[in-house]
Amino acid sequence: AETEQDPKALAAEAAAAIAELTGVERHDIALTLGSGWGKAADVIGETVATVPAEQVPGFHASGVPGHSGTLRSIRLADGRHALVIGARTHFYEGRGVRAVVHGVRTAAATGAKIMVLTNGAGGVNPAFKPGYPVLISDHINLTAASPLEGATFVDLTDLYSPRLRAIAREVDPSLNEGVYTQFTGPHYETPAEVRYAGIIGGDIVGMSTSLEAIAAREAGMEILGFSLITNLAAGIQETPLSHAEVLEAGRDAEPRLAALLKELVVKL
Ligand code: 6GU
Repeated sequence: AETEQDPKALAAEAAAAIAELTGVERHDIALTLGSGWGKAADVIGETVATVPAEQVPGFHASGVPGHSGTLRSIRLADGRHALVIGARTHFYEGRGVRAVVHGVRTAAATGAKIMVLTNGAGGVNPAFKPGYPVLISDHINLTAASPLEGATFVDLTDLYSPRLRAIAREVDPSLNEGVYTQFTGPHYETPAEVRYAGIIGGDIVGMSTSLEAIAAREAGMEILGFSLITNLAAGIQETPLSHAEVLEAGRDAEPRLAALLKELVVKL
C-alpha cells in the first residue's frame, strides 16, 4: 500500500507522472498555495497544464475549502518552469506526516531548487494587519511530529532563506517578518494558547508549513515562506474566529498577493 512505500520512491513516481501529464520534464521552482494565495497561479506565468491531484501518485483531492486540488505547470516570463501545488495535505487530515510533506518531496523530485510555502494564518503580533502578508523568518513546530524518519539530524539554521527573504523585501519593502507557530488544528487555538505562542516567540499561528519546510530543507531546497494574516488569533481579536472569515479575508487579499508573487518569482 501507498503508506508503506518509501516516501522518496513515491515522490519520484509522482514527479514522473507530473512530467508525463504536463509534458514538462523539469521544474525549477515550486509554490504551495494556501488560503488566499490561489490566484497567484493565474498570474505568475502561462499555464502549460493543470492536473487534478488525484491523478498524481500520493496526492489527494483537497478536502479543505479554499484549496484548489490541482497541480499546475507554469512557464514564467524568463522561461523557467514553476510547479504550483494547490493540493496541500494538512496534518489534521490524519493521513500522517508523510502525506503532509509529499508535495514538497515531489517538488524536489521534479528538480525544483526553491520551495515557496504560503498559507493563511492568524496574527499573534498585534502589529500585524489582517489582509496583509508576512514573511516567515523562522518557525516553532508544535505538532510533536517530524517528517524525518530515523537518525536524520538536519540543521535548521536559516531554514527560511535570508537570501530569498531579502529579495522579497526588495520587491515589497513594507513586508513584516514573523515567527510561524504550527499547531495541529483543526480547531483554532484558545486565547491561552495564543498567549503562550506569543511568550515563546511566535508572531503567527497556523496549521501547516513548518513540517513542509523541514522536509524541503532535508531535500536540499531553498525555502521562502509567507503567511497571509487572515485574522488576528483568539484573544487578540475580540470576535470569534470562523473559517468563513478566513476565506473572505483571503478573497479580498488575493489580487495583492498574486501581484506580489508575480513580481517576486522571476527574481528568485
Ligand atoms: Cl487563529 N490559528 C490557526 N492555527 N490557523 C489559522 C488561524 C488561527 N487563522 C487562520 N488560520
